[in-house]
Parts: sequence; structure tokens; C-alpha cells
Amino acid sequence: QAQNLEALKKEAALKAVALVQSGQRVGLGTGSTAKYAIEELGRKLRDGELSGIVGVATSNASADLAREVGIPVEDLDPRPLDIAIDGADEIAPNLDLIKGLGGALLREKLTEVQARRLIIIADHTKIVSRLGEKAPLPIEIAQFGFLSTVERLREFLPGGRLRMTGASNYVTDNGNFIYDAQLPADFAPAELERRIKGTLGVVDTGLFLCMAERAFVAAPDGVQELVR
Ligand code: A5P
Repeated sequence: QAQNLEALKKEAALKAVALVQSGQRVGLGTGSTAKYAIEELGRKLRDGELSGIVGVATSNASADLAREVGIPVEDLDPRPLDIAIDGADEIAPNLDLIKGLGGALLREKLTEVQARRLIIIADHTKIVSRLGEKAPLPIEIAQFGFLSTVERLREFLPGGRLRMTGASNYVTDNGNFIYDAQLPADFAPAELERRIKGTLGVVDTGLFLCMAERAFVAAPDGVQELVR
């Protein structure tokens, strides 16, 4: 089963990488699905199927992998990216997303908001009818005063918890903590995003609204292409 899921993720990744053209600046996502896209991009560069690609990575892990497979990596600057390819934790019917279970939400959002095309790759288990159905919403918060920030968030998002690695707080690439919030059954995504972002101590949220252009979602009976 787990092995099948890996094959599906790879299939979705290959479809997305097929959209990349030589000379493009490419946002490189984070996670176990995005990893297949980075590896395929590296392979295409090595095999001469693509040239002149520059990658902008959404995490230290993805930057390391990209360099390992031969993709030149640059820091994010104000220029637009031609395309970005990334996984997601939940995909709603309108392609709104929850991201950040892998902890890279801030760099992902900073990078992908600058991409002309954001292509999401996933296996079918990520499809939901409403956001928050299966996954918590990751909220990146500053370390300083984090208990106060969590209290402010709990006023309207009770039931969440600080992400831990073992006995310690999980720390993002940006040196922040993450509060994994339970979403209510019924909410207006844009309004909730505004409210969370307006909470003192919050850096960003894993709600990616109106950002994805399309998603390749792999299921045992083939890869489905969803367009916003
Ligand atoms: C990283 O912070 C996340 O946004 C990932 O994109 C997400 O967790 C998907 O990861 P998988 O492809 O490993 O499920």
C-alpha cells in the first residue's frame, strides 16, 4: 500500500515537471511528493532534456536535494518565478490548500506567491470536500511570547496544539514555532486567514487560497488533472 502511494506521488510529479521549459526559474516545493519533482528536474538537466533551469527552494532540505541532483539554486529575489511545483496536505475542490505539515509553509508561500503558475502534486488521499477535514492548519508563530500567541489563537481556534519533535518544540527553517490548529466544520477561508494573520505573534498560515493553477492528483486508476 505505502509503496503504491509512493508510485502515485512520483507519477503526479512527472506530469508537473513535464510543464517546465528550458531557461525557466522554478520554485521547488518541500515534502515527499515535491522530492520526486526535484529529482526528475535534475534528471532532465543531466540528460539534456532541459537546460538553463534555476531553482528557488522552499526549504533547506529541498535546496540540499536540488544541489545534490544538479539543479543550480538561487535565493528568492523580487523577480517572478515561471512555475512552482509543490505538494499539499489538503486540496479543496476549488484548489484552495492546506500546506505546512512538513513545516515549510512560510518559505513556500513567499516563493509560490511569486510564481506565474503554481502546480500542485499529490496522491488522491489529499483531496477533501472542505479544508480541515483531515489535516490541522499549521500556523507559524514567533518564538518570543509564543504562549501568549497560542492563547490569542485559542480564543477562536481552540483544540489545537504546539507542534513538538520529541520533548522539544518543533522549530521551522526560520526559527519559529508552529501551532497546529483544528479548523471548525464551517468557516470562510479568506476571513479566517485575515483573522489569524491579524493575531499578534503570527508569522503566516498554511492556508494557500486562490494560489494553485492546477493539481495533478494520482489515484490507482490514473492521474487526474484539476484546474482552478
Ligand atoms: C511542507 O511544509 C508542506 O506544505 C508540504 O507541501 C506538504 O506537507 C506535502 O508533503 P507530502 O508530499 O510529503 O505529503
